[in-house]
Amino acid sequence: MRGKLISIEGVDGCGKSTHAKLLAGWLRARGYKVVVTGEPTDGPVGEVIRRALQGELKIPVAVEALLFAADRVQHVTKLIRPALDAGKIVVTERYTYSSLAYQSTRGLPMVWLEVINRAAPKPDLAILIDVPAETAIARIMGSRKLDTFEKDMQLQRRVRENYLRIAKQKGMKVVDGGRAVDEVQADVRKFVEAVR
Ligand code: TYD
Repeated sequence: MRGKLISIEGVDGCGKSTHAKLLAGWLRARGYKVVVTGEPTDGPVGEVIRRALQGELKIPVAVEALLFAADRVQHVTKLIRPALDAGKIVVTERYTYSSLAYQSTRGLPMVWLEVINRAAPKPDLAILIDVPAETAIARIMGSRKLDTFEKDMQLQRRVRENYLRIAKQKGMKVVDGGRAVDEVQADVRKFVEAVR
């Protein structure tokens, strides 16, 4: 049996990691084999991306988009596809929708972003945890240093708007992430139930 691919999306600080972990625990308790993963990956391309995000490397936005797409191909080949073939549920923090939301906000055409991401299979479910940029940034500042994207409030606001538009166009499920964790998680699980 082929597994399922679930992508958790949203602006930095929306609570993706928390909800991916809670979701995985809940699914495991129900007997499913679950892999929690994320992008950018820890692979060779992901490493370059992280250096760029920390401001160590200056690269044009189109190169950045290609790196995210390349990192995704590596992710699909090395981890996602084998896990799906083994019947596992893969929960990924960020996937193609992150590129559509962030790199279009950084000025790149959506059609081109779709083309360079064509090698990535469509997820069975994509959930957008929607929170205002201000809420998200305030949460991050409470725990660690902000990276280049996170420092840019205007960018984060536009990313959120783009995410909401993409959700409508492409059928991502939107969850209001501004509530208590258990309420948000209950909505996440409802959507997962429907594709399980
Ligand atoms: P993030 O989820 O913060 O990763 P980590 O928790 O491992 O640091 O992602 C890092 C940044 O990369 C985040 O600001 C969003 C951005 N990003 C894109 O711009 N495009 C993409 O395709 C992906 C996967 C991430």
